[in-house]
This record gives sequence, structure tokens and C-alpha cells, in this order.
Amino acid sequence: MTLRIGVAGLGTVGAGVLRLLQENAAVVTARAGRPIAVTAVSARDRKRDRGVALAGLRWLDDPVALATDPDVDVVVELIGGSEGPARDLAEAALAHGRPVVTANKALIAVHGAALAQMAEATDTPLAFEAAVAGGIPVIKALREGLAANRISRIAGILNGTCNYILTAIHEHKQEFADVLAEAQALGYAEADPSFDIDGIDAAHKLAILAAIAFGRPVAFDAVYVEGIRNVSGLDVAFAEELGYRIKLLGTARRMGGGIEARVHPCLVPRTAPIARVDGVFNAVVAEGDFVGRVMLEGRGAGAGPTASAVVADLIDIARGRFTPVWGSGQATLTDLPDVPIAQHVGPYYLRLMVVDRPGVIADVAAALRDYSISLGSLLQHGRSPGEAVPVVLVTHDTQEAAMRAALARIATLDAVLEPPALIRIEPG
Ligand code: NDP
Ligand code: HSE
Repeated sequence: MTLRIGVAGLGTVGAGVLRLLQENAAVVTARAGRPIAVTAVSARDRKRDRGVALAGLRWLDDPVALATDPDVDVVVELIGGSEGPARDLAEAALAHGRPVVTANKALIAVHGAALAQMAEATDTPLAFEAAVAGGIPVIKALREGLAANRISRIAGILNGTCNYILTAIHEHKQEFADVLAEAQALGYAEADPSFDIDGIDAAHKLAILAAIAFGRPVAFDAVYVEGIRNVSGLDVAFAEELGYRIKLLGTARRMGGGIEARVHPCLVPRTAPIARVDGVFNAVVAEGDFVGRVMLEGRGAGAGPTASAVVADLIDIARGRFTPVWGSGQATLTDLPDVPIAQHVGPYYLRLMVVDRPGVIADVAAALRDYSISLGSLLQHGRSPGEAVPVVLVTHDTQEAAMRAALARIATLDAVLEPPALIRIEPG
């Protein structure tokens, strides 16, 4: 019997799903064991050309009506946003015992706990493979493929738009704003691109991965977030000179009895596999006690890769395959404490713009010494007496709280002309 799909949202991803189901109908039918057919759709603008055939599909002005439509077996939510019609539709469908497939990481990161509760109560699938890392089957890999392991750390490039921008700044010395416009034109960016460049989208994805990896309730508010707005071409060039690449990483790891979760730009050694993941590609590294280190890589955004993940979820539902939302039931989740960023320990890259005059480095070094921060290297090129010059310092392992305190003092020195740039160094 045909699995009948109602699709809400016909933008980059929605149109991609329709196209995939049309072009790959034979292979999808074989793998699903039955045909998967879209019967109803909903978006805002009925007249807009979406580059896919909509003939024969019922159009609903209200996407939430898909939750109860008699010709729909599964709701596919591709509108986006943690509130509004996306949330209303998911809640209405689950309340009705109707499976939901979504690519909406904001919705799952913010309301995933309540939605999973509803799904579990009605034994209804809630699937979101496309919500994290686009076409990479990372949810399935972490939740099912690595299910036998205790995971100690996950780290990844989780935002295609940011990785596309950072790659272009590195390779083509392009300006931030120009590259963001390119990423938007390619359909990679969120409706509000500040979600991408301010790290929020990556934090949504990290919160979801951490819930699965560590068996804890999804906790978006616990993720420390910094975006890439302050990453300059100068820092990209210094990083290169020091043997690093700058990447926006999401990292979550067990520390003591708790979980540290953070998204921020990082210096990653050029030789680390994740440093070579460029453009719209994403990568996720997981470290398990029996499997060791696993790395998955693929396109993290765009119509085709995201549609691939959405339809994989539909095939699972067609086959009757589904697991608890977080891999184990709600009752087994443990609310592990959050480890604050102030307790983070690692090496740091610090770039200052200072007046080139005797004694300035001694003052900076004194501030670091007073907070017991050990320096690994220092870089300054050429001389411009009395002028502004960049100075780069790399520390040994340091606690974030000490680094922040030293930085606050350094920022008050009259020879320091701009707010210091601080970037954490990660192994990748
Ligand atoms: P788009 O902005 O391209 O498409 C959104 C769609 O939702 C549009 O068709 C729009 O209608 C429709 N829509 C918006 N508001 C409403 C409303 N109030 N009622 C009915 N329909 C509405 O977004 P994307 O396709 O890029 O993203 C969709 C989801 O997939 C988001 O959750 C996003 O985070 C996620 N995602 C996106 C990826 C990507 O690469 N783009 C990758 C992975 C996940 P209309 O067209 O008429 O304006
Ligand atoms: N805006 C997101 C990104 C889409 O750039 O990664 C994929 O989730």
C-alpha cells in the first residue's frame, strides 16, 4: 500500500524532496517495499514556480491541516523555525498519532523533549535525520550504528554556511558579506542567516547530537555559543602560518560527572582530518569506548543532500523501522549537569593590535604570568615603531576563567588598541 505524504514547506528542501521522490521513484519504492507518494502540499505562495511538478497534488493553505488530512499518512515538516506553523503542525500530527519527519533542528533542539514525549506516548515515529549535518546519516550512525558504545566526545563542523564562508576567506581571500550572499543564493543559509553566522544553528545541531550521544534530555540552552562574525582574514592568515585552519566546531564531551557543550571558532591543526573538510561539507567525529574514533563527512546543506536524509526517514517509516527518539526511552535519560565554559581547559590563540614600542610585550606577558598562563609561542612580523602591529600569542593548556581574567587586564593596557581576538585551539 502506498505511503501517502503531506509536505509542508516547498522551499529549498521541500522542492528537493519532491524532485527526489519523482526522479528516484523506482529505487525508493524498492527500498521502502512500497511506493512513497506525495498527496498534499502546503506553502505560503501558491503561484510561485518551485521548479518541480505540483500537478495532481492537493494544496492546503493551512499547513497544520496536514496533521488530520485523511489522505496523508506521514507529515513532512519543511517550513522551519522553532515556533509558529512548524511547531503547531508537529504537535498536531503527533497528537493525532501521525508520524512526523522534519529537517527542523531549531524545533527539535528547543521543543524536542516535549515532542519526543508525545511521540513515545502515542508510539509514533518522530524522525529528523536531515536536521543535523544535511546529507550525512549522523543521527542513524550515532543512535543505531554506535549504540553499543559509551560516547566520550563528539565534535563536528555542523554548519555548511559557516564552513563555506571560512573556506572562501582562507582560499580566495574573499570578504565575509560577499561569501554569505553566495551561500544564501545556493540555498545553504537559514531564513535568518544570523542563525548560521552567530553559531545558533550549529548549537541546535550539537544539542541534538549530545542528547543522543550522552542519553540526556536535549538541552539547547546549555550550549555555549560564539559565531564567526569576528573571525578576520588576518587571523585566518596567522592561523595558516602557525600550521592551523580556522573552523567553526561544535564539541560536546564528558567532563567529570557532567557534559561540556560548546560551539565556537577553533584553530585546528592543518593535519587533522577535519581541517581538510571545506566548503559546504560537514563532518562529525564521535569517540566511543569500544569503536574508538569514527568520522563521517558529507554535504551539510543544500536541496539534494537534505532531501536524501528526509527520504531515508520516509523509507524507514514505510518499512516500519523506528527506534525511540533519543535511542533509548525518555525514562532512561539522565539529566547530567552542564559544565560551564569557565571550566574549559585548552590552549588559546590570542591576537592583539598593539603600539610597537618597548615594554608592551613585557606588560602583556606580566598579565599572563599573574594568572599562571604559560606561553607556547609569540609571533610579530617586522617593525613599525610607534605604529599599530599585530602580535600573536599561543598559550599552553589554560583554564578559560584564567584566560578571561588575563584578557580583561590586557584589554586595559593603553598600548592595546583593539579588543583582543581570542580563539580556542582544538585537536579536531
Ligand atoms: P526555505 O525558506 O527555502 O523554505 C521554507 C518553506 O516554508 C517555503 O516554501 C515557505 O513558503 C514555507 N513557509 C514559510 N512560512 C510558512 C507558513 N507560515 N505557512 C506555510 N508555509 C510556510 O527553507 P529551507 O527549505 O531551506 O529549510 C526548510 C527547513 O529545513 C528548515 O527547518 C531548515 O532549517 C531545514 N534545513 C535546511 C537545509 C538547507 O540546506 N536549506 C539543510 C538542512 C535543514 P513559500 O515558498 O510560499 O514562501
Ligand atoms: N543553514 C544550515 C547550514 C543548513 O548552513 O548548515 C543545514 O542545516
